[in-house]
Amino acid sequence: MCGIIGIIGDKQVSPILVEGLKRLEYRGYDSSGIATIANNNIQRCRAEGKLVNLENKLKQSNLSGNIGIGHTRWATHGEPTENNAHPHATSNVAVVHNGIIENYKEIKEELEKAQCKFNSDTDTEVIVHLINHNLNQGMKAQEAVNAALDRLEGAYAVAIIFSDEELMIGARQGTPLAIGYGDNQMFLASDSYALAPLTRKISFLEDGDRVFLTKSEVTIYDEQGNITQRPIRITAQSGATTGKGEYKHFMLKEIYEQPAVIGDTLNSFIHPSTGHISIPKEILHSLENAPRITMVACGTAFYACMVAKYWFEQIAKIHCEIDIASEFRYRESPMPEDGVALFVSQSGETLDTLEALRYCRKQNQKIISIVNTIESTIERESDYVLHTLAGPEIGVASTKAFTTQLTTLACIALALSKRKGAIDTAKEAELAEALRHIPKQAAKILNHDNEILQIAKQVSDVKDMLYMGRSMMYPIAMEGALKLKEISYIHAEGYAAGELKHGPIALIDETVPIVVLAPNDYLFDKIASNIQEIVARGGKVIMFSDKKGVSSLKEYSRWSIEIGNIHPFVAPILYAIPVQLLSYHIAAVKGTDIDQPRNLAKSVTVE
Ligand code: M6R
Repeated sequence: MCGIIGIIGDKQVSPILVEGLKRLEYRGYDSSGIATIANNNIQRCRAEGKLVNLENKLKQSNLSGNIGIGHTRWATHGEPTENNAHPHATSNVAVVHNGIIENYKEIKEELEKAQCKFNSDTDTEVIVHLINHNLNQGMKAQEAVNAALDRLEGAYAVAIIFSDEELMIGARQGTPLAIGYGDNQMFLASDSYALAPLTRKISFLEDGDRVFLTKSEVTIYDEQGNITQRPIRITAQSGATTGKGEYKHFMLKEIYEQPAVIGDTLNSFIHPSTGHISIPKEILHSLENAPRITMVACGTAFYACMVAKYWFEQIAKIHCEIDIASEFRYRESPMPEDGVALFVSQSGETLDTLEALRYCRKQNQKIISIVNTIESTIERESDYVLHTLAGPEIGVASTKAFTTQLTTLACIALALSKRKGAIDTAKEAELAEALRHIPKQAAKILNHDNEILQIAKQVSDVKDMLYMGRSMMYPIAMEGALKLKEISYIHAEGYAAGELKHGPIALIDETVPIVVLAPNDYLFDKIASNIQEIVARGGKVIMFSDKKGVSSLKEYSRWSIEIGNIHPFVAPILYAIPVQLLSYHIAAVKGTDIDQPRNLAKSVTVE
């Protein structure tokens, strides 16, 4: 979850490190720091809080030097204080680390017995002291690092610099690290996005790799200690900086981008000559013949899988299992021969999802992934990849990534239904038409922004909120609750409306608003009864429905938003949007840090 950058070259690195950290801040933003080598001395500047605090400190004490490392942190061990911020250093060596060293306590005890003095509560500091100890024993830098890394258990990506060497060392074990090849300068970074403005030429370390960089040479060793090569590619990442434009927050900008990016994603699946939805045939072939499809993801991406289960089962008539990655990866689920495992991830770096993928790989499943970030680890480890074309998503709360994931999954479900003969040509045309209308309908839904803001103003001081829906609106209710929790810190839960009377109905009183997602579909009468059960107990309903739904239930809803007539097939994609707006406005009224909410990080690369 932390972001790492390292540079060895012939220019002053301090400002370049800070620019790199800006592109890595989505990984963690509770503290940051840089270290450089100048006149055989390690110089360091660190700050608690957002990167801007580091920038302000650097104005007073700019660090010189052509070799340096930087870090933006998401705290695992030790509070987010300046003292725990990376780089950690002695007078000989400085280290930045992403990951968790599981055996750090045992190493720390051992080093303390050898009179090492620790200055932080982090697991990372043991790496520094191990290397330092080895250097003091007379080992050369490379040997000292190798011996230190051999002691570590857990996951890490590290970048290491030395006071007395024109050298930078990197290593990867379970956590991604990319190398950038420049002209008389070399780079390390957590991802290719951070490197894109610096160089187009990049390669990715594999697990167990260690890399030794000078300004003109890169030498990679594999797990067995043999010199190896990792393919150098020209990154497709844009080096451009993404701005907020006229929007107050990235999240709002990203909500508003949805008509366009859903359109782009759809267009990538619309066959240019036939106008049919078309998915690469090898993907359809694997899915069609699979005895089981297993979809795995985390957070919002998991809710996209939940919706997809309805599409795959109800329309394509294909059974599929869905699971959250952090549970799936340890459950040792038996997997069928010729099975297909499908992974959904915005970042393509979520560690639990990646480990679930690796488990499925070992079980000989075909691996398909749907990712937004190009050149991610999940993409590289998959057999087939479909990209959502959401563009960079900067706000921690996922919005446009979610609706483009849904769009992609709907296209797969439709193409598969047709290929399997589960729907006839007329139905296929009807569903494809519904998909093509999404961008226009999404734009219309955004026109309700102000009405939603007015509701937000009236509910922003509540302590709890419930969301409910049936069928495909059930995952959207879960997603709505997650969004609200993340950015407004209001406690919220999403429920299947039919489940309410099995427990959650006890929570209802006049202080708990209940968001009801009630498209006028085949389950409308059922949800109408659920609404009456809520109202009978004093609950205040915020209803999202279409014209018919709103007019028939207006008297029971404290607030209602009529969002147009939407085909049930695409309703989950479109109903996600007002729910995002409601969370956004509630958080904005409360004045929380919407794009970088407390305790969270955009990309979760630790367990
Ligand atoms: O990058 P991923 O899609 O794999 O991330 C999965 C979750 O961490 C992510 O969706 C998270 O729940 C979001 N912050 C939700 O808004």
